[in-house]
Amino acid sequence: MNEARGLRTRYCGELGAADAGSPVVVCGWVDRRRTHGEHLAFLDVRDHTGVVQCVVDERIDARSEYVVRVAGVVRERPEGTANPALATGEIELGDCSVEILKRAEPIPIPLQGDVDENLRLRYRYLDLRRARMQRNLRIRARVNAAIREAMDAQGFVEVETPMLVASTPEGARDFVVPSRLHPGNFYALPQSPQLFKQLCMVGGLDRYYQIARCLRDEDLRADRQFEFMQLDAEAAFVGAEEVIDFITTAVSHTVDVVTGSPLGEVPIITWNDAMDRYGSDKPDTRFGMELVDCTDLFAGTQARVFQVPCVKGITVAGGAEMGRNRIDELTASCKRWGAKGLAWFRLAEGGEDGAPALDGALSKFMSPTEQAALPQRLGASAGDMIMLIADERWLADRVLGLLRLELGRPPVSEGGLAPLWVVEFPLFEDIDEAGNPQPAHHPFTMPHPDDLDYLVRGGGESLLRVRSQAYDLVINGWELGSGSVRIHDAAIQKQVFATLGIDADEVERRFGFLLEAFGYGAPPHAGFAFGIDRLAALLAGEENIREVIAFPKTQSGADPLTSAPSLVEPAHLAELGLRLRPS
Ligand code: AMO
Repeated sequence: MNEARGLRTRYCGELGAADAGSPVVVCGWVDRRRTHGEHLAFLDVRDHTGVVQCVVDERIDARSEYVVRVAGVVRERPEGTANPALATGEIELGDCSVEILKRAEPIPIPLQGDVDENLRLRYRYLDLRRARMQRNLRIRARVNAAIREAMDAQGFVEVETPMLVASTPEGARDFVVPSRLHPGNFYALPQSPQLFKQLCMVGGLDRYYQIARCLRDEDLRADRQFEFMQLDAEAAFVGAEEVIDFITTAVSHTVDVVTGSPLGEVPIITWNDAMDRYGSDKPDTRFGMELVDCTDLFAGTQARVFQVPCVKGITVAGGAEMGRNRIDELTASCKRWGAKGLAWFRLAEGGEDGAPALDGALSKFMSPTEQAALPQRLGASAGDMIMLIADERWLADRVLGLLRLELGRPPVSEGGLAPLWVVEFPLFEDIDEAGNPQPAHHPFTMPHPDDLDYLVRGGGESLLRVRSQAYDLVINGWELGSGSVRIHDAAIQKQVFATLGIDADEVERRFGFLLEAFGYGAPPHAGFAFGIDRLAALLAGEENIREVIAFPKTQSGADPLTSAPSLVEPAHLAELGLRLRPS
């Protein structure tokens, strides 16, 4: 902890019984004032370390949030008046003289309790005075410092890349900046430093990192802001294994610095296994409730619902108690997610041969064998609930994955940190209406060497089978970061662009510089980026990354404090060669 300097000699929250008898000077804001008659006041003075009670025997006009400097002597509180709820509750400052450094208007938001989000952001500078924000921003600063420490120690060189760039495709819309000197032309703000870090590898930097600001014009959510920070890294002459090791080391060190214990072993599973067991490419492994394949149990079934390519299920432990309203709600959610319905069974005592009995609308269509086999396959017993989705495999997985989260996911601050690496993502995740596949990561990701054939000869659906050398780090169901082995060969890169349906002219215009660079001795390279906002939020136990960002945007992308975004003067627009279309 830094020593207090300047106008003060000590910080409020650090004072304790060991300081009794010491004269001190503290500075801060009046957290609370209580008066006893004309000439006795108790001032709770607050700085970023905490609060200390100051007993003032003179008439003072110091109200809440006034900025004060108090000189006094630390003394133990009189018998019976200690406040165990306060870190400094055993002591107080006596013989105080108070200097008011700045008066304050009554503040428009309380610093305790719940406040409307918009108001919090409108008065963010006051909101930052809350203990929660003080703690969170300090956690964030330690995250940044620890990341730098870990990357430096592993030989990575910090390099800053530009903010005014040509577009870097990461799957979101660009924010664009008009150029005054080149009327009609625009810079893009970087969605990530992806192409520059690859060029750093061609430039021989060997190991690059940056704590990079990235900008993406996409819908905001709890884990998404327009602007966010990444730990961005790239290394030459390494593959996925080494990158996974570098990043695990950095994240583990950061977790250790903030929580006092490192991450421990981080399991690695394939994308295919993640989808199969959790119905998600970012599984929350803090809880079980894994998806179980029951397709074979219904091979000869009379129940029409189960005459489909895939039947999978989960067990809700103790779920037999679940009321009909909740079940109806969950069924509606499953339909919204694309399933035809939700099959559910309450399990009670009294089935055949000691097995639990199934109670659900569909049980009468099931044979006794099916009824006995189902709970056994799922490891479910009387008092539990079984939920099944019957459909195409990918749909059953996805819907059950969402249902699993809905039913089992603990708040982000509970259950510790459950990290895992998900590897071997598919190269393409979807085929759009024009028949072009969409990259699951980004177009610079190296296909799995065993699947190159599909890429060259395949087409249509078979492209979705091409695996990539991409990997994600997932913690508590959040995608913390992504990375991949990169293509460093112009021919393969052109093949991928062509498969994505980007024509040769566009490739030349947008990525010609990259392909050219590959022609001058590009080393094999691989890299990764993880979201610092997300890591800081996980470590602070916050569900929304806004809570670890000093000045975030609201859900609608506005900043109620500075009124951004705002109109630009017509003269300024004219200078940029722009005219607004009348709306
Ligand atoms: P990707 O697009 O997966 O990969 O981004 C990496 C990580 O950045 C964080 N992130 C965000 N955080 C807050 N708000 C957002 N809008 C947002 N978007 C992304 C996430 C995400 O996992 N260039 C590649 C990395 C690489 O291949 O090296 C990239 O940017 O935590």
